[in-house]
Amino acid sequence: MCIDEKDKPIGIFDSGVGGLTVVREVMRNIPKERIVYFGDTARVPYGSKSKETILRYSRQIVRFLRSQDVKAIVIACNTASALALEELSREITIPIIGVVKPGAKVACATTKNNRVGVIGTKGTISSGLYTDFIRQINPHIHVVGKACPLFVPLVEENWLKDPVTVEVATRYLAELKEQNIDTLILGCTHYPLLRSTIGKIMGEQVTLVNPAYETACRLRELLHEEHLMNETSLEENKNPHRFYVSDAAESFRDFANSILPCEIEKAKKINIEDY
Ligand code: DGL
Repeated sequence: MCIDEKDKPIGIFDSGVGGLTVVREVMRNIPKERIVYFGDTARVPYGSKSKETILRYSRQIVRFLRSQDVKAIVIACNTASALALEELSREITIPIIGVVKPGAKVACATTKNNRVGVIGTKGTISSGLYTDFIRQINPHIHVVGKACPLFVPLVEENWLKDPVTVEVATRYLAELKEQNIDTLILGCTHYPLLRSTIGKIMGEQVTLVNPAYETACRLRELLHEEHLMNETSLEENKNPHRFYVSDAAESFRDFANSILPCEIEKAKKINIEDY
């Protein structure tokens, strides 16, 4: 493997700001890697769209990320992981991973009473993919899914602790509270940003699982396996990461700066339909 290959960035994408929860974990856990992020802010939400549409969007984004010469891709979106990862991994030659499998794995290791809840978009929940992966690991685990479609616009609006958000979350989570689950997967990359609200409603007896951390660990493992790990430290003064969106670049940048461990100077708007 030539050294240049290791120097290339990791491509990460989501429908909007949600994938930044994965970027945050990659920055913390694999700090030598450069990141090219794309947030599809013009076409968010993905969660209520058809598989065909999500596949078309994801293919465009993968083409864009490849034009940025990335060495691997992380689909930091549960919906696109559930609906497009299988096809995309057959179509491209660089490594590509999603967030669903790592999330399922950590939930199996966390539950003690074998009762796991999953919250996500309509697309993710109706795909049944979390249930499938969990059952492959442990067929005795009972999985209860609940779609929470209003969470994504609330997060994109940055209403993380607003009373409206608390009210919506209380209604969505009421039926899960009756299911005696001890583990709840935050099966949408936007949801970790509502962690404290969700945690308060579910109570201390329920462990919240954020697949973002496990995804960063899986990425690190994969880079090792493929001999793609960057070995040189990123220059401290230069911002090594690049952020792209399909709309509303300034509000994206402000949001990113409120949750990432490093300051980003700007997010650049591109026309994703060109790819
Ligand atoms: N954050 C994404 C996910 O993990 C997409 C949410 C959406 O756009 O509906 O599913």
